Amino acid sequence: MVNAGIVGMGHAYPSGVLTNADLEKIVDTSDDWITTRTGIKQRHKAAEGEYTSQFGIKAAQQALDRAGLKAEDIEIIVCATTTPDQIMPSTGALIQAELGATNAAGMDVFAACSGFLYGITMVESMIRTGQIKNALIIGAEILTKYVDYTDRSTCVIFGDGAGAAVLAAVPENKGILATKIRSDGCFEEQLYAPGGGTRLGTSHQTIDNRDHFFKMKGNELFKIAVRSMAEISKEMLDKAGYTVDDVDLVIPHQANQRITDAVASRLNIPEEKVYSNIAEHGNTSSASIPIAIDECVQSGKIKAGSLVLLTAFGGGATWGATLMRF
Ligand code: ACO
Repeated sequence: MVNAGIVGMGHAYPSGVLTNADLEKIVDTSDDWITTRTGIKQRHKAAEGEYTSQFGIKAAQQALDRAGLKAEDIEIIVCATTTPDQIMPSTGALIQAELGATNAAGMDVFAACSGFLYGITMVESMIRTGQIKNALIIGAEILTKYVDYTDRSTCVIFGDGAGAAVLAAVPENKGILATKIRSDGCFEEQLYAPGGGTRLGTSHQTIDNRDHFFKMKGNELFKIAVRSMAEISKEMLDKAGYTVDDVDLVIPHQANQRITDAVASRLNIPEEKVYSNIAEHGNTSSASIPIAIDECVQSGKIKAGSLVLLTAFGGGATWGATLMRF
């Protein structure tokens, strides 16, 4: 058995930016409310004609280049997304074709903000057991096209972007040391987009009801998110035989600065060990963790040997945690 670990990272954004001042002109909100309740100052927003796979491809190509691999070396491409280009084919398959990854199977994982950790957890054992050598895990979202710009409680939160990781075999004691994913569909109506599927379909009524946009009960999710991320993080540390004091950096899904602060407080981990980029990017769902990892690798916050704890929570509800050594 070998360990699986990250050997290359990349990320990409649309160039468009939507600031809190822009949102003040669209809904009844204020920079002060958004900043104090979420920590967000701006988010990237795709233009008309831009779509999810374009940014997934850019992030994936950068990750491949940094890993020193060619697209043909990849055997699995998992694209975590809640905002696919279209219902079929999968965005993973579209990315596979565009990259020229002719030896890979492309697929999507639908797990909202936990999607990247779902992808990591699924593929890790395939590498560890020798079934495959190299995989691409991508988190890519154009959430601003699913956001209702008449609903001030959701439209201020979400932004667009993509991050990608190449996973391959790494030396013993490096790479993924413990990883686990969970879900509880009983929380369906806390965050959902009911329109367009086989249950409601698409009709004049679903469009009039704005059923194709995200609907969220934010303050109920808040409590579940904090509890779930803290509990599963502790579980992964215990499983791998570490304590929070051993951790060099925590990268939580960037849902809301207050959620990040509350998770850090429950884990009893100091602020300087918890990464945040939410002010600049907002909540980019499955893209937030790979984007943050890449930023930390590029800035030197993550170095060879760093012990990093990733944790996520998203619609579903879904949640997970991964402990890895770089
Ligand atoms: N501007 C001004 N006022 C607002 C806004 C806004 N943008 N949005 C809501 N308000 C108002 C509400 O109407 C309410 O007013 P009222 O008291 O007069 O009724 C008041 O502010 C408080 O509303 P709450 O919803 O209780 O505000 P809260 O402090 O909980 O913040 C937020 C809302 C930011 C959504 C927060 O609950 C949150 O971040 N929740 C978690 C979201 C999350 O984790 N989602 C899952 C991951 S994302 C994914 O999976 C894709």
